Amino acid sequence: MAREFSTVGVVGLGTMGAGIAEVLARTGVRVVAVEVDDAAVARGRGHIEHSTGRALAKGKLDEAARADLLGRISYSTALADLADADLVIEAVPEQLELKAKVFGELDKIVKPEAVLASNTSSLSITEISVQTGRPGKVVGLHFFNPAPVLNLTEVVRTVMTEPDVVADVVEFARTLGKEPVVIGDRAGFIANALLFGYLNHAVSMYEAKYATREDLDAAMRYGCGYPMGPLALLDLIGLDTAYEILDTMYAQSRDRLHAPAPILKQMITAGLLGRKTGRGFYTYD
Ligand code: CAA
Repeated sequence: MAREFSTVGVVGLGTMGAGIAEVLARTGVRVVAVEVDDAAVARGRGHIEHSTGRALAKGKLDEAARADLLGRISYSTALADLADADLVIEAVPEQLELKAKVFGELDKIVKPEAVLASNTSSLSITEISVQTGRPGKVVGLHFFNPAPVLNLTEVVRTVMTEPDVVADVVEFARTLGKEPVVIGDRAGFIANALLFGYLNHAVSMYEAKYATREDLDAAMRYGCGYPMGPLALLDLIGLDTAYEILDTMYAQSRDRLHAPAPILKQMITAGLLGRKTGRGFYTYD
């Protein structure tokens, strides 16, 4: 029988961490959500309240279910509050040193049998896992943005991950309503390895002024049935995150497809990160 993860820690409450905390709490899991300071906690809580407010407005949740969901999440600014967690999902920014530090600290705090998971999109789970004394209990658990809506999780195993841990996390993903796929530790896993070449190509076409942003996006929405065009999707993902993913994949594969289009870096330097800063390829209210 798969083991239960009844208390789950989420570290980092940006777009992904907040979405993951929401998904967990919606399923009845007790969540301890940790951010660096009170302002970051308030932002994360705001994300969750906004998202569940939309779900309420769309009839996906009723008032009582929303109140229960919100009541299952407690907030903290101290990793030490994760001592009772059965599983911790890390969703801090995509920097290896930062993730390594968080895992090193978590390893000292959580129970020896607890599982540590990273929501990284492209960094090496193996490199993260060796920061701990329990690499057999470290996996990738990668959600897709927006996490409350998209039903995939990639479960990433390293050469050290114990098979039982993979099986338990796969089963847990199913209980969250997410279709799990299992993949070895390669940059981009499955979905991003396939998706980001396409997104990067769209940026290059935009940069070369082949077509307007609207026409590039319309081509893929109306011609190929994608829910969003590539530039609108990059704004949703965040240009900084997209750049990190491309850069990591390029460093590993040297495939030109993944060499980040130069304008991406320029836009990041200018603070045009997409929806989260109000402006990317498009402008948002
Ligand atoms: N809880 C439950 N349901 C929710 C919800 C929530 N918090 N928020 C929204 N929903 C539901 C809505 O009720 C709606 O359901 P119906 O279709 O049944 O009405 C559905 O989700 C869509 O929501 P919206 O109507 O608000 O928005 P939309 O129809 O314009 O769709 C979108 C928005 C979901 C973002 C859609 O455009 C989409 O799927 N885009 C593609 C996103 C994508 O490709 N993401 C992957 C990015 S790559 C990645 O994430 C990996 C990485 O590592 C970077």
